[in-house]
Amino acid sequence: MSDTILICDDEELIRWSLCEHLEQEGFHTLSATNGKECLEAVREHAPALVVMDLKMPVMDGLTALRSLRETDPDLPVIVITAHGGVESAIEATRLGAAGYIAKPFDLREATIAVRRALAENRLRREVHYLRARDRGGYAEIVGDSPAMRRLFETLQRLERIDAPTVLVQGESGTGKDLVARAIHGRGPRKTGPFMEIDCTALPEHLFESELFGHERGAFTDARATKRGLFEVASGGVLFLDEIGELPLGMQAKLLRALENRKFRRVGGVADIPMNVAVIAATNRTLRDEVKAGRFREDLFFRLHVVPIEVPALRERREDIPVLVHHFVEKLNKSFGRNVKGTSGASMELLQRYRWPGNVRELRNVIERTVILLQEDVIQPVDLPPELRFQGGGGAAAATQGCPFVLPEEGVDLEGVERGLLEQALARTGGNQSAAARLLGISRYALRYRMEKVKPPGQTG
Ligand SMILES: Nc1ncnc2c1ncn2[C@@H]1O[C@H](COP(=O)(O)OP(=O)(O)OP(=O)(O)O)[C@@H](O)[C@H]1O
Ligand SMILES: [Mg+2]
Repeated sequence: MSDTILICDDEELIRWSLCEHLEQEGFHTLSATNGKECLEAVREHAPALVVMDLKMPVMDGLTALRSLRETDPDLPVIVITAHGGVESAIEATRLGAAGYIAKPFDLREATIAVRRALAENRLRREVHYLRARDRGGYAEIVGDSPAMRRLFETLQRLERIDAPTVLVQGESGTGKDLVARAIHGRGPRKTGPFMEIDCTALPEHLFESELFGHERGAFTDARATKRGLFEVASGGVLFLDEIGELPLGMQAKLLRALENRKFRRVGGVADIPMNVAVIAATNRTLRDEVKAGRFREDLFFRLHVVPIEVPALRERREDIPVLVHHFVEKLNKSFGRNVKGTSGASMELLQRYRWPGNVRELRNVIERTVILLQEDVIQPVDLPPELRFQGGGGAAAATQGCPFVLPEEGVDLEGVERGLLEQALARTGGNQSAAARLLGISRYALRYRMEKVKPPGQTG
């Protein structure tokens, strides 16, 4: 499918000739007549490249370029400079323009500049993507944020250490399963088995025989001797998922086995040596469970030898574009689609959302969206309502000049105002000037409004 090029120039002749020529060269083109229109077109159509004149009415090219650098840092922009406009060409390059063509220019020269910038950009994106995807060889775990890099460093250290216990903590859907499998798959026990058990799945008595096995006749149903997971996983890894849900009685038995590095089958008398590394995962904060008396402190310390925190997605929003790309590519392959990605406005919504279900929720949203998608770029309207109506609004959720959509049942305007003030203050850590900037008002106006919406009876 051909790349879309946005031509932005106030001179009709230049617009027309560039569009004509690039269309002949197999590109798809769009045009805009000033910087403001250019920004709108970029948000709406997510072009692959922009060719932009610097001198334009309403909003000039440098202003538009500055704004594009903030919202679409990866979008290549080629600027058209007037004869002798060296200063502005330098400034444009400094602002990250992918190249420039000087007026009067030859159309072939323009095409070459466009092709070169597109190729460079494709390469850069690919490198970035591969680096994020294959960092440390953990091909399945996508992410390049500082938090994820720290995680990869820990994983890399674990490749050489045969840690007896690892504790993986993180909210639901952050990728704890992936992490556990990566530890096994690249660690010293990779040739051994990987067995997993969900600690919520079984009642206590069954759990014990599942883990340690039982001798024939140990209880009524025990017709034959059965080896437990600790034996079956010998030489490998036992993954205890949702360890926070393990009943207290079982916690004691597990601790004893881990401490002694041996165990007995239920009903058995012989000690069986243990040759298993345990990876435990939980989406609860185990320390809090200890405080609440639901988790044994001694077992907590035993597991906590190598703690791994998998960060929530909202704490690493910079990973969202590369995760989206990853899921779109996967879906393109499995469904034979050619979805190119998201428009800038959609990405804004994706990056702003809180993602309570973390990467799993993101994957589900992208899956649903791609399956239903008619066009080849994901627009805000294609996204589910919880993303479109987050109260920040993207281009498509917006009505003229207002980014919010009034719900059917109406709103409590003061409540909305209070909510926005609180969110702005929370996001800026209570910094009033920064909060005021987020809301587009003065600090004085912010204080006035805070006073106004304060719930009755509250002072200070
Ligand atoms: N960093 C990542 N890169 C690519 N895919 C990811 C990443 N993190 C999570 N996923 C995907 O998100 C989904 C959920 O991940 P996973 O099952 O590992 O989460 P979890 O933390 O174990 O969740 P739960 O607490 O509910 O068990 C999976 O499909 C997984 O492949
Ligand atoms: Mg899991």
